[in-house]
Amino acid sequence: MAAFDLVVRGGEVVTATDRTVCDVGVRDGKIAALGQGLDAGAREIDAAGKLVMPGGIDSHCHIEQVSGMGVMCADDFHSGTVAAAFGGTTTIIPFAAQHRGQSAAAVVKDYRERGDAKAVIDYAVHLIITDPTEQVLGQELPALIRDGYTSFKVYMTYDGTKLDDYQMLEVLATARREGALTMIHAENWDMIRWLAQRLIDGGNRAPVYHGVSHAEVAEGEATHRAIALGRLLDTPLLIVHVSAEEAMEEIRMAQAKGLKVYGETCPQYLFLTLDDLDREGMEGAMFCCSPPPRDKAGQKAIWHGIQTGIFQVVSSDHAPYRFDETGKLKAGPNPSFKEIANGVPGIELRLPMLFSEGVGKGRIDIHRFVDITSTAHAKIYGLYPRKGTIAVGTDADMAIWDPERKVTVTADMLHDNTGYTPYEGMELTGWPVQVVSRGRVVVEDGELHAEQGSGIFQPCDKPESAKPLGRVQRELDPKRNFGANLLF
Ligand code: URP
Ligand code: ZN
Ligand code: ZN
Repeated sequence: MAAFDLVVRGGEVVTATDRTVCDVGVRDGKIAALGQGLDAGAREIDAAGKLVMPGGIDSHCHIEQVSGMGVMCADDFHSGTVAAAFGGTTTIIPFAAQHRGQSAAAVVKDYRERGDAKAVIDYAVHLIITDPTEQVLGQELPALIRDGYTSFKVYMTYDGTKLDDYQMLEVLATARREGALTMIHAENWDMIRWLAQRLIDGGNRAPVYHGVSHAEVAEGEATHRAIALGRLLDTPLLIVHVSAEEAMEEIRMAQAKGLKVYGETCPQYLFLTLDDLDREGMEGAMFCCSPPPRDKAGQKAIWHGIQTGIFQVVSSDHAPYRFDETGKLKAGPNPSFKEIANGVPGIELRLPMLFSEGVGKGRIDIHRFVDITSTAHAKIYGLYPRKGTIAVGTDADMAIWDPERKVTVTADMLHDNTGYTPYEGMELTGWPVQVVSRGRVVVEDGELHAEQGSGIFQPCDKPESAKPLGRVQRELDPKRNFGANLLF
């Protein structure tokens, strides 16, 4: 009998901290040995000349989810996870979205049934909370957190999803008490809708005005306010999909004060600009997402934020809507910018783009690449060390990369169901050629080898990232006694 189920032989194994040429022995879905000259495996992969890295973790993607605007996204758990796998990602964390009036527990139950039936790689689940009732905060969330749903997203924007500051505090207080991490979509909705109305009144309906209405200052202000709300309650938080330099600056300043404020950005803020929304006719609709891409100087600033550690994670925020009447053009062939579904696809290209343009162009080193695409996601959301690294005892989730492979991006080669890519024609160097999920070779030679439903739900631990600092505002300090009972 072979010593291992699988041996990945002779590749350069790279983690967030180390790199070494060695074999990886896999048994029962876990990494059982690392070393040179390992005994034979029932299955062998020759990885000489290749890089063996932890599979990506995409901790922000919208799969089989109805958006705040009421549009079902184009990918279900099958197409979404297949696309993720082809791009070197082995775990996703999409959102079970509670819409107003719904029970969060019922939403999660339904979402899990969909995921269990269709996912081909492992997945965890965040919640989106739009209706933080007493029942949700007092009963449902504590139970869900105990069951491994330890992070939730709230919106400061959109009519259908927005929480006011009071509700945000209620959610943050619950997160603090129960040990969960709050993810925040930070944009000032009143600024956006005021600008949008003036633009529409002036006859400015084209997609580019989506970007104009989602002004940078609206992102900066809401980020500042979110951080202040978290600071009041000594509650860590993570600002998602940061695109504006001034929002990034708010995060940097909070981090410099020692606050537990985490930052996420996305490829669209590194590779797209507002000019893409200004393309001919309705084409710009394909690039409408919130917050919107900014300008070239903004891209540079966001790279700087990745290089200097302001951002811990780069996620795709894959929000796929087809360029037809089911998605972007649901309101008709010529919608105003306010009626265009928000979001861009990117689940498959996230790693290849960051590898090629980040590592390949010398903007980040390969360890930082692994960290921002995998390890830090696992740590922040309570999946580490089961996921996010290559070490004995961890899940055998790996992507084997040909660092020299040249690929010209086209929509046809991708596996999601969006039907277009914002990155059409981009020239990339480096590609994941084999992908291993819990020891199963799920992608090889451009083919999928995984059954629907073979992905397994991964409950998240209460993450270290969510632990309060123990440094509350003076007014609430238990030693001063005035407000102590509010929090403790
Ligand atoms: O435009 C975007 N990002 N759509 C997806 C939903 C969200 O807010 O992340
Ligand atoms: Zn968002
Ligand atoms: Zn999103």
